[in-house]
Amino acid sequence: MFELDARLSAAASFVRRGKRVCDVGTDHGYLAVFLLKEGMVPFVTACDVNEKPLQAAKAHAKQYDVLDRIGFILSDGLQAVPSENAEDIVICGMGGELIASIIGACSYIKEGDRRLILQPMTQIPFLRRYLLTNGFVIEREKAVCDRHHCYTVMMCRYADSPTVPNELFCHTGMLPFEKTAESYQYLEREAQRLARIAAGVEKSNPQDERVQHCRMLAKQIQALLKGWKQNEQTAE
Ligand SMILES: C[S@@+](CC[C@H](N)C(=O)[O-])C[C@H]1O[C@@H](n2cnc3c(N)ncnc32)[C@H](O)[C@@H]1O
Repeated sequence: MFELDARLSAAASFVRRGKRVCDVGTDHGYLAVFLLKEGMVPFVTACDVNEKPLQAAKAHAKQYDVLDRIGFILSDGLQAVPSENAEDIVICGMGGELIASIIGACSYIKEGDRRLILQPMTQIPFLRRYLLTNGFVIEREKAVCDRHHCYTVMMCRYADSPTVPNELFCHTGMLPFEKTAESYQYLEREAQRLARIAAGVEKSNPQDERVQHCRMLAKQIQALLKGWKQNEQTAE
């Protein structure tokens, strides 16, 4: 049986059954093969900007006997991917800025009933801000943690309703609404990350306004987690 790691499993769980999926930056093609092997979707376009990963994905698809339901496209983002093959668009394992630039460069991403499943590795607040200011909504997020990292996977759609998100939302996203142990852990680590940034900046320039800004955000996240724990205890 073919199994995905927890990060890609979370992404797969957001894919709608029966949709034509485009896996942008497919690399090894694990997610694409999994969706087909599980019979979740009829067709996947596996695209990558580099030829070598596409060859690996092809070999993988052959091994799992799904070559008849998968298309391979050498493409920078979605540039060479036909719109009808990208009902659900998965972009995992890239930096937040790169994901935002792929979204921004796609001519059809705001048309039709499309779902975006995004899993940024870095610049996550940047990506949340980009999405909201450009009219997308983040409907759900799932946190996944292993020993070293916590990841978040976002489920988004275009809603033609640009909003200016507050700074706290850019750092927490929808995770406070998920109320899972992993989202708690993700938010704890985000507060620690912000506190570390504040301490680092303070060393070289104590007057830098980022010091207070990051500390304030870290405190807000900690307060949110405290309230969450208290509510849980009251409910028990
Ligand atoms: C770290 S791998 C992530 C693989 C897989 N999506 C995952 O999450 O496990 C990133 C992949 O994205 C591809 N990539 C980078 N920039 C891209 C772009 N602009 N368009 C398409 N693919 C890109 C790379 O070649 C690489 O195969």
